Amino acid sequence: MAATGPETVATVAALRDRVGGWRRRSMTVGLVPTMGALHDGHSALVRQSREQCDRTVVSIFVNPKQFAPNEDFATYPRNEAADLARLAGLGVDLVYMPGGREMYADGFATGVSVARVSEGLCGVTRPHFFQGVATVVTKLLLQCLPDNAYFGEKDYQQLQVVRRLVRDLDIPVAIVGVPTVREADGLAMSSRNAYLTPAERAAAPALNRVLNQVAEKLRAGGTARDAAAWGHRQLADAGFAKVDYLEVRDADTLAPIETALAPGARARILAAAFLGKTRLIDNVAAGGAG
Ligand code: PAF
Repeated sequence: MAATGPETVATVAALRDRVGGWRRRSMTVGLVPTMGALHDGHSALVRQSREQCDRTVVSIFVNPKQFAPNEDFATYPRNEAADLARLAGLGVDLVYMPGGREMYADGFATGVSVARVSEGLCGVTRPHFFQGVATVVTKLLLQCLPDNAYFGEKDYQQLQVVRRLVRDLDIPVAIVGVPTVREADGLAMSSRNAYLTPAERAAAPALNRVLNQVAEKLRAGGTARDAAAWGHRQLADAGFAKVDYLEVRDADTLAPIETALAPGARARILAAAFLGKTRLIDNVAAGGAG
């Protein structure tokens, strides 16, 4: 691990100054947007950026616009010292940590909303969420103007929302989706796993196990409707008190799929479910190359 932390900046002007300097030397730039509380899933995003770009910027900003008043903005895990130590160890070139006012000036009145892919799935119980994400990601991309930006496939609907907004708004950046990093027992890494009690943590791998079993049923020719209903029951039996959704969707458009998969169809099985008060999400590929 490096002895000193990476350089940090807190303003758009300083970010643009550093990135502009690299650009003048014909260097490529990767951006990894995060809300901190970094884990090995984030490290995988950074490693991929470092492999593909000459310079890597990580942003850390807990975005108030993607939390509803009843959600965990105030208590969302924050650990700046550990985050900076991790990023130093990974060889990150610059960390962008804007304050709330730098991101949302007084009188801020603009929102980016992405129809269709934001609807359904997490958009049902968290209707504010994707507009908050789309708005801050648009700002981060325009503030940094990277060549590539890296997002985890764990937040699969978010990844599709970001891909859509970049295409629709002609933002000149390549969006790179990075496969989910899992614990040895299959649980997808997430900053919110820290909320799980030991008993909930022991039950949590069932989410990924059931999604893989649903994928197996689809591969065997079952209908998406039946496989999803079966998965729902399995999650309830495994102790998930509330299942927000378990659905089969088109991997790109997220259009619902109810029937057996057509040969070569690229589908995704996505779920969100509660263990106690903690809401976990996960998804796996089904059919084609998913
Ligand atoms: O996935 C996240 O951590 C956040 O939603 C993101 C993309 C950094 C936007 O705040």
